[in-house]
Order: sequence, then structure tokens, then C-alpha cells
Amino acid sequence: MSKKNAMKWTRKHLLGIEELSVEEVNLILDQAANFKEVLSRPIPKVPALRGKTIVNLFCEASTRTRSSFELAAKRLSADTLSIAASSSSFVKGETLRDTAQNIEAMKIDMIIMRHSCSGAPWFLSKHVDAAIINAGDGSHEHPTQALLDTFTIKEKLGKIKGLNVSIIGDIAHSRVARSNIWALTKLGANVTVCGPKTLIPAQIEKMGVKVTYNIAGAIKGADVLNVLRIQMERQKKALFPSIREYTKIFGINTERLNKYAKNDIVIMHPGPINRGVELSQDVADGEYSVILEQVTNGVAVRMAVLFLLNHTKQSSGVK
Ligand code: CP
Repeated sequence: MSKKNAMKWTRKHLLGIEELSVEEVNLILDQAANFKEVLSRPIPKVPALRGKTIVNLFCEASTRTRSSFELAAKRLSADTLSIAASSSSFVKGETLRDTAQNIEAMKIDMIIMRHSCSGAPWFLSKHVDAAIINAGDGSHEHPTQALLDTFTIKEKLGKIKGLNVSIIGDIAHSRVARSNIWALTKLGANVTVCGPKTLIPAQIEKMGVKVTYNIAGAIKGADVLNVLRIQMERQKKALFPSIREYTKIFGINTERLNKYAKNDIVIMHPGPINRGVELSQDVADGEYSVILEQVTNGVAVRMAVLFLLNHTKQSSGVK
């Protein structure tokens, strides 16, 4: 753990990557590297958050993010509580604000929340005193996913600045894409997005990315491909003719990689994967894939976030 890192961190909440400075992103990545070392020890646990209580409030499904945050909190010796919307009083009509304020009345310190509405974590941060961590809000942001993706790229390739990263798939509905674009462009990567026209938001170039609708163009010269899931549940109407056609035109498979990719390309996916749709089975499990390393790194990155936010809570100067 680095107290020096913690001293430089002044935010009370982690709501999005857009609002973070380059220094803040690097601070989290540096701190995550410290915690990755902790996780390699025979007893992968430190007392940094002993006596603190952290609540997972997930109003949408999750495997990786929820369990990773819970493990991160436990590795820091915090007490944890997990609330799933489907088995809570949400189903009786209780509002998000009432739910959070009732949980807070039980003297908790942080709320990690996932919600289908963009902006829900910002809303809650105005109504509770606990630190709020955004674990994914609608199609808007998924900050810790972008941080763990960035951490994994840096670990594999030694840097972010100057790398060519292509993000492929359903950009329009992807909070992962948005947070990755903010993180990677802040750190100096060249980001290209690729997918069907209907799944690329208008004016996305204003975020500092290039756009291509040609999969070969997205693969050629790329150091990293971050392949995204087609989010059928967020599409209100059919945005491409069929899954089969999507796979044929944009799917990442061995044949395409052999034809267009650099020899040392890194293949990422935030999960969950639609195997055989955006990514073929052999590529998902193949030599270029770092998908499970991303998941491993998620625990260290989330430990870093919890550690830094806890430091702010203990000191006075909060943003
Ligand atoms: N990457 C990600 O957010 O996965 P989960 O939905 O399983 O948390």
C-alpha cells in the first residue's frame, strides 16, 4: 500500500472516468500495481479497511463486477453486504433514494452501485453521505472496467501512450466503450471504434476517436482489440439484420486475425462473451486472449479504488 498515493487522492466518489485527470487515473493504476503484489502473497489480505462496511447495491445482473468488488473489499478486511434488486424491497416499489438512505442508516461507509439508468450514481451521491462507486450506469460509464482494461494493457505492453487500440462492436449501448475511450485517450492511446453504422453513435469522433466500419481496417495496425458484447437487452429495435450477419461481417476469428493482425496482438473482452458471435471460441480461449487476466486484475484495481476513497473519507478535503 502507498500512503503517498492516498495523500494525493481527494475525491469522495468514483462516478466516471470523464471527470478524472490523467494524474488521478495514473494514481489508481499505480495503487492497483501495489495491490496486485499483495494478491500474490500466501495470505492475500491487508487490514487497510478494517472496521469499514461496504455495500454492493446491484439493480442489474453482474457476475464479474459484483464478485470482484466483494473480494476486493474482503481482501482489504472490510465488512461487506450484498443487495440484489430482485430480492429487495425494490420489487415492492421502494425508490433508489429510500433504499440507499435506509442502508446508510445502518452506518455503512461506501455503496457500490449498478443501475440501468445513466446518471443514477450521480443522483445518489447527492442524497447520501456514503462514498458512491459507479459499477455501471446504463449505457453511460463503467469506470472500474476501463481502469482494469487500461491496467491490463499496461501490464501486457508496458505503456498506453502511442498504442493503437480498436474497440469493436456495440459502441452505442456500451458503457465499457465510453469509459475506455475516456481512459485511453487521456493516457495518449490512439483509439478507433468499429461496428455497424447503427451501433456507432453520431459525433463520437468528438471524444477523440477514429471511426471505421471496416473490420480489416480496425484490426490492421492495432496493438489491442477490445471486443464488446452485442447488447440485445438494450436495443429497442433491430439495429442489424441478424446475429449471423453481424458475426460474418464483424466477428473476430482466427482467419481474420491470421490475415490482418500483428503477431503480438492483445485480445480483450469485458465479459460476458457471446461465444461464436462477436468472438470465436478459439480466439476467446487462444494465445492472444487476456480475458481472464482482465478479471484477475479487476480485484487489484477495485482494491485500489476502495483504498483511495476510504482515505478521502478519513481526511477532510473532499470533492
Ligand atoms: N464486465 C462486466 O461488467 O461484467 P459483469 O456484468 O458480469 O459484472
